[in-house]
Amino acid sequence: MSTDWKNIGFGYSKTDFNVRSTFKDGRWTELEVTSSEYLTLHMAATSLHYGQEAFEGLKAYMGKDGQIRVFRADENAKRMQSSARGIKMAEVPSELFHEAVMKAVSLNKKYVPPYGTGAALYIRPLLFGSGPEVGVKPAKEYTFLVFVTPVGPYFKEGFKPGNIMICRDFDRAAPMGTGNIKVGGNYAASLLSLEKAHDLGYGTVLYLDSKERKYIDECGPANFFAIKGNSYITPESASILPSITNKSLQTLAEDMGMKVEKRHILVEELAEFDEAGACGTAAVISPIGKIMDPETNTVYSYCKDGQPGPVSTRLYQRLVDIQYGDEPDKFGWIEIVK
Ligand SMILES: Cc1ncc(COP(=O)(O)O)c(C=O)c1O
Repeated sequence: MSTDWKNIGFGYSKTDFNVRSTFKDGRWTELEVTSSEYLTLHMAATSLHYGQEAFEGLKAYMGKDGQIRVFRADENAKRMQSSARGIKMAEVPSELFHEAVMKAVSLNKKYVPPYGTGAALYIRPLLFGSGPEVGVKPAKEYTFLVFVTPVGPYFKEGFKPGNIMICRDFDRAAPMGTGNIKVGGNYAASLLSLEKAHDLGYGTVLYLDSKERKYIDECGPANFFAIKGNSYITPESASILPSITNKSLQTLAEDMGMKVEKRHILVEELAEFDEAGACGTAAVISPIGKIMDPETNTVYSYCKDGQPGPVSTRLYQRLVDIQYGDEPDKFGWIEIVK
């Protein structure tokens, strides 16, 4: 039976191999290739007790030419190093990160969804404290692994706007906490607010800065951006994850002659924007139709005709075209898997 790539969704499915390395006695071991989906973990591992855990997410795309392209893995390597520093874990050197990502994709080539389906191979690097401790302190031993799993297109029915809700009763990350790194605890802290938003019929939540609750922070597991005239505007905040998609969209916006503004965005400014979107690896851009503020019952509307705005659409198309190899990679973002 052939795979229905358009309907596989965003979930885990088994592939053939994953790759692993252990940090012991001050050095990383050679990569080990395994087909096991399981880990044997010490019950006192610091990842289980004290949350020493960080992860990354990126994708490999099949081009029309049959070549597999990985997007900006060097940026994910740097971000994982920053996460490791933030919670006192051993850093994975960029060369090891790169080797592990390329090997995991290359060993699972048959799972890279075909060109034209909108699906891709999701790559999940994971780093955690695997050494035992009982007191609150960093582990002496760490495990780094990379697995891959095919994921379906985010927009099965086409590039369509969704509605979101401002989160007024939960904070995702503290002002001087861990919001700017990709550690598991941030995601645990987001689950209740996400469930609440889903129950009320919203796709995700828009977090505000947790100190003053005046400024836009980010949008569930994605960054926020808005378009106003010829400007691409995105929040400046110490508690949001530096999104690689957002960084790439800023480069494309500048390349298209737009002005990029990275600054505080007041909630009231939502009324002034022409377009708004959430951006991240999963969807590239999720255009925002409406933003509801439960405190004031204000609804900010974009996409008035039910269609994504023209600038978001152009940015989305350009980035997707670069990822699938339909537009030349003039920024050096792509690596072909050998
Ligand atoms: C909290 C959060 N913000 C933003 C993003 C988007 O980042 P990227 O574009 O690197 O996927 C993600 C996804 O990784 C995320 O989890």
